[in-house]
Amino acid sequence: MNDNSWLLLEYEDPRYRIPTALRARDVRAARDIGWVEQMRPFVRHFSAPGGLVLDPFAGFGTTLLAAHLEGRRSIGIELDAARAALARERLQLQQADDARMLTGDLRNLRDRLPTIDLCLTSLPYFGAPAMPETSPQQLYGQLQYEPFLEQVHEIFRSLRDCMKPGGHVIVMAENLRLDGRFVPLAWDVARVLAGLFELREERVLLYRRIAKELAPGEWHSNRSHEYALIAEVRRETLDVAAAMALWHEIQAGGHAATLRGSLARRLAGDHGVVPADMDLKVDFDATKLQALLQFLVERGFALRCWQRPLRLPVDLEALRERDYIRAERLDRDGRRLVVDVGWT
Ligand SMILES: C[S@@+](CC[C@H](N)C(=O)[O-])C[C@H]1O[C@@H](n2cnc3c(N)ncnc32)[C@H](O)[C@@H]1O
Repeated sequence: MNDNSWLLLEYEDPRYRIPTALRARDVRAARDIGWVEQMRPFVRHFSAPGGLVLDPFAGFGTTLLAAHLEGRRSIGIELDAARAALARERLQLQQADDARMLTGDLRNLRDRLPTIDLCLTSLPYFGAPAMPETSPQQLYGQLQYEPFLEQVHEIFRSLRDCMKPGGHVIVMAENLRLDGRFVPLAWDVARVLAGLFELREERVLLYRRIAKELAPGEWHSNRSHEYALIAEVRRETLDVAAAMALWHEIQAGGHAATLRGSLARRLAGDHGVVPADMDLKVDFDATKLQALLQFLVERGFALRCWQRPLRLPVDLEALRERDYIRAERLDRDGRRLVVDVGWT
């Protein structure tokens, strides 16, 4: 891989395409299958020979085949049992004995997974029709966008527990057009990844398709590109000086919060801990919480609860079960400060 921000995909090797007989047995004739060539450069670059690659939305096992061809071991997770079976057959035909397909959802399987070096996947698209199996965990067929994104968040959150520190999570995703409406799926998923890992880079994957001239003022495109979003599994370390300055301001402002977690332990003298964020606890008292959240918003923080952006005043009763609200600020020098406001 070189440092071009794009990767041109022109040729699909027929030796690795899904066999026609298998394709014909899929409910959607495998229209949502990817190319082995799309995955191979990422496998090569972001994992070592013999390393373990995971695809949590494995479909027909394309990522697993790419991993096999590059001499890596792999695990695929696919919710649809019929597809998982097709993938197993495909991998067997390719003698990919180092690939293992599991049927299910990562959220339920994570305790059975070993440590993963690289997670490489293509996201199931919002707006795709439902699959024959009707598991509520199936992302295809989800009716609304926010709950869809929330499930994506949950899945990548579960993934975090299985990933090797320093490993990578690479997600292929496209922005969509649904009934003429532009849906920034790739950008929203990038935000999900940024909340869980350290988002590093993107590559734009370009597919050569026949282009049509547009009439002046027409703006739609043939959508022949997608993004590979590249994140690293790394706990960001807290800028302790910036966090302390904020903490002093919070105290001076008379807010009834207590400092908890790793930063509190560090201040108590445990220099072995490396805080990633600042944990505050407040009684579940609407007035106190709203005041603290307002204080943070006035200092440039954005509020989210489980990926959902929040505006003031926050409907705290609706969020009570969620235990905390995350406040995040990005400064112009690239520094990020994360404050979790929890309640007791
Ligand atoms: C884009 S397709 C993957 C195709 C794959 N990249 C390939 O080329 O072989 C996405 C797959 O994710 C599966 N899926 C959807 N929700 C899932 C979930 N919660 N857990 C596991 N798989 C899921 C779908 O059934 C679908 O087969």
